[in-house]
Amino acid sequence: MNSQTESQKNKYTILIVDDEQANLKLLSALVSCYGYHFETAGNGLEAMEKTKKIRPDLILLDVLMPVMNGVETCKRLKEYPDSRHIPVIVLTSLGDKETRLKCLEAGANDFLAKPVDNAELIVRVRNLLQLKEFEDRNKILTEKIQTIEAVQKIEEELKASQKELIEKNNEMKQLTESQHKELEKAYAELKAAQSQILQQEKMASIGQLAAGIAHEINNPVGFVMSNLGSLQKYADKLSEFIKAQTEAIGELGVKSSEFGEIQKKVDEFKKSLKIDYIIDDLGNLIRESLDGAERVKKIVQDLKSFSRIDEAEWKMADINAGIESTINMVWNELKYKATVKKEYGDIPLTKCNPGQLNQVFMNMLINAAHAIEKQGEITVKTWHGSGFIYISISDTGKGIPSENLNRIFEPFFTTKEVGKGTGLGLSIAYDIVKKHNGDITVESKAGKGSAFTIKIPVVER
Ligand SMILES: Nc1ncnc2c1ncn2[C@@H]1O[C@H](COP(=O)(O)OP(=O)(O)OP(=O)(O)O)[C@@H](O)[C@H]1O
Ligand SMILES: [Mg+2]
Repeated sequence: MNSQTESQKNKYTILIVDDEQANLKLLSALVSCYGYHFETAGNGLEAMEKTKKIRPDLILLDVLMPVMNGVETCKRLKEYPDSRHIPVIVLTSLGDKETRLKCLEAGANDFLAKPVDNAELIVRVRNLLQLKEFEDRNKILTEKIQTIEAVQKIEEELKASQKELIEKNNEMKQLTESQHKELEKAYAELKAAQSQILQQEKMASIGQLAAGIAHEINNPVGFVMSNLGSLQKYADKLSEFIKAQTEAIGELGVKSSEFGEIQKKVDEFKKSLKIDYIIDDLGNLIRESLDGAERVKKIVQDLKSFSRIDEAEWKMADINAGIESTINMVWNELKYKATVKKEYGDIPLTKCNPGQLNQVFMNMLINAAHAIEKQGEITVKTWHGSGFIYISISDTGKGIPSENLNRIFEPFFTTKEVGKGTGLGLSIAYDIVKKHNGDITVESKAGKGSAFTIKIPVVER
């Protein structure tokens, strides 16, 4: 029990409360002899005030005192939060059981019988102080634990709010990233739409120009052809006449020698002018010219039907005829590269925009020709089934690498040299076919060739 060191004793202050000076002297001499500090009070009230001021570590309290007795004092001390924890030893006469009970009720921690036994007093004082120290340490420990727990709680809260912040930050990042992507996508779409409009406008003005030229050529070709027809008739008549005249002169020449001379001169003149050859060739020349004029007429016709400027946009049309006139239009681009196989099926008329569909065929035919390096074959096939018209344009060209297959319909995707292709052809084609509620599929093998199949629903009037 004797575990309190000198230095520990020195830090303790004991408040001694007694109304008798002799007792105060005796007790204070005793405690100071054991190394404790002490303070004194002459009654309960004074004890309360001193307690407030000096905060003693232990109180030795006499019971019988004027002003406020020990029981009352003890009760009050134990009522106040500031003094509740201070151990109180009550000094009472041995036999007074009733007072002891009252003191216990009032919260007293221990008793000492009067007259006080010095050794016992010191032991009880030491025990209570030790107990108080344990309690104090316990209190400090509890407070520390509470502080640590509070700090931990704050730390956890901080961590949680930090986590929340990070999550929010990520969300924001994702949000701005996705907004950025959306913006980029919208921009690309806008750019593509703008280019498509430009391209379509270009096509439209080319069509308009073609139609204008076709119209202008149509008239002169018309009268050239009709004149050539007349010319052929005239030439036939003239050669018939010359033939008859030559025969008549021949007959006269046989009858008279004078006419024989004239016949000789005419024959020589005829020979020098190569009249026989001319008569022979005249028919050929006129036939060839008529042929040529016929071809010009056909080209003009194709130009007109390709541009479709003279027609309402959406109309019942024959797809096969549209393909045919488109092939004629691009014949110059195809003829050196490929033989064109046509397998036109028996397909119904359908309500469509023939000018636009021709644009689709034209781009696919030109793409096919471009894909053929030297010589190859382009096959155009049409057929009809369960409410749809199918158009397949296939080639024996270089094919499309599989990694490009799902990119060829993207606007601006091209593998052609700068200036050779804009990469808009197939994207426009896709758009046009979609507008017809149709679809384009493609099959291709690198090195073998490609086949594009267009499928559009048959729309009846
Ligand atoms: N028949 C085909 N064979 C091989 N590759 C093809 C064929 N058709 C299209 N492609 C590929 O798809 C790309 C895109 O074609 P698209 O018609 O859209 O543009 P382009 O022909 O390059 O240019 P544009 O048509 O605008 O002049 C081509 O550059 C080519 O690589
Ligand atoms: Mg193209």
